[in-house]
Amino acid sequence: MAIISSKQDPIEPNDRRIEPKRSDRPAQSEPLLKPEVTPDEQDKQEDRIRPHRFADYIGQKDLKQVLDIAIQAAKARGETLDHLLLYGPPGLGKTTMALILASEMGVNCKVTSAPALERPRDIVGLLNSLKVGDVLFIDEIHRLSKMAEEILYPAMEDFRLDITLGKGQSAKTRSLPLPKYTLVGATTRVGALSSPLRDRFGLIQQLRFYAQDELSQIVLRTAQILQTDVSEDGAAEIARRARGTPRIANRLLKRVRDYAQVKAAGTINRYIAAEALELFQVDPCGLDWTDRRMLSVMIENFNGGPVGLETMAAATGEDTQTIEEVYEPYLMQIGYLNRTPRGRVATAAAYKHLGFTPPNQQLSLLK
Ligand SMILES: Nc1ncnc2c1ncn2[C@@H]1O[C@H](COP(=O)(O)OP(=O)(O)OP(=O)(O)O)[C@@H](O)[C@H]1O
Ligand SMILES: [Mg+2]
Repeated sequence: MAIISSKQDPIEPNDRRIEPKRSDRPAQSEPLLKPEVTPDEQDKQEDRIRPHRFADYIGQKDLKQVLDIAIQAAKARGETLDHLLLYGPPGLGKTTMALILASEMGVNCKVTSAPALERPRDIVGLLNSLKVGDVLFIDEIHRLSKMAEEILYPAMEDFRLDITLGKGQSAKTRSLPLPKYTLVGATTRVGALSSPLRDRFGLIQQLRFYAQDELSQIVLRTAQILQTDVSEDGAAEIARRARGTPRIANRLLKRVRDYAQVKAAGTINRYIAAEALELFQVDPCGLDWTDRRMLSVMIENFNGGPVGLETMAAATGEDTQTIEEVYEPYLMQIGYLNRTPRGRVATAAAYKHLGFTPPNQQLSLLK
């Protein structure tokens, strides 16, 4: 597999986005965010953990079914796969699926990310280097520049590269044919994509949060790769706190493994996992310090909302994009937060989880 420009930074951007910004964050939560090995080793370890075949990709049954049919049909016709857009919150397996897709099709995959295609010549060069059947994976595709996007339109639709030579009145447009290829785009913000770009994808698929039993399987698989002994109930405990997200499940497993190595010999069971994750301030619902702070700020300072996104950002010291893309999707999924036209609202379940009395019960207590 030819990877021409994978992410430059070994620490995934979304991991960085949830880096703490406040200096008053409790000291215990820090090790969760520190890289445990050198960047190079980390890359290798990441690659070993990442599934490379359809069969190892756990969960996302609907997505796998759709793609399996599309792959089989394309192969039978001897054609390339339709352009595919994958969207969903960070860490659910978009990049992993794109790489698996290429290997299942038996083709090369060129990996890049929209911010690396800033100048028109970056994307022209990349398109020019494609061979028949190649998969071109563009991560964070919602961040493409307008110019790059306009080059992509005919390149996606008609497999044609329109380039302008010269400037001003003497400028000429030349059209070059491109080989048939498959563009796979990934984004955490499908709403930020322009509709002409979105409409040029034949397949648009959403990745969903994982069920606990799927995350347990992911933890057990990763533990095996890392040669760590984890019992079924130990894996379930980690899965329960992983916010429906494989990347977080794997990260928590590594933290628990460290804890077990230092504090307890032998297999990681449910008690050791719970003890370790309490220490790292990951509660039984998977909420971390920032989640709890967001909810408690809403409840204590704004009577549970509605609170505007900007206000939330100012009150918690997080940026709006991180709140929207990293924190809110899971809080909404577990029913702790609602988005309303007037702002964010903490639900009764959030009040109870944090030990507050929900507002409707406060009223009945006054009667
Ligand atoms: N279905 C799965 N089965 C097993 N492991 C998975 C699965 N999906 C993801 N993972 C693991 O989770 C990690 C994160 O996945 P990936 O990098 O594909 O997420 P992503 O959706 O591309 O995230 P981002 O939006 O941050 O780019 C992978 O390294 C892989 O080990
Ligand atoms: Mg990715």
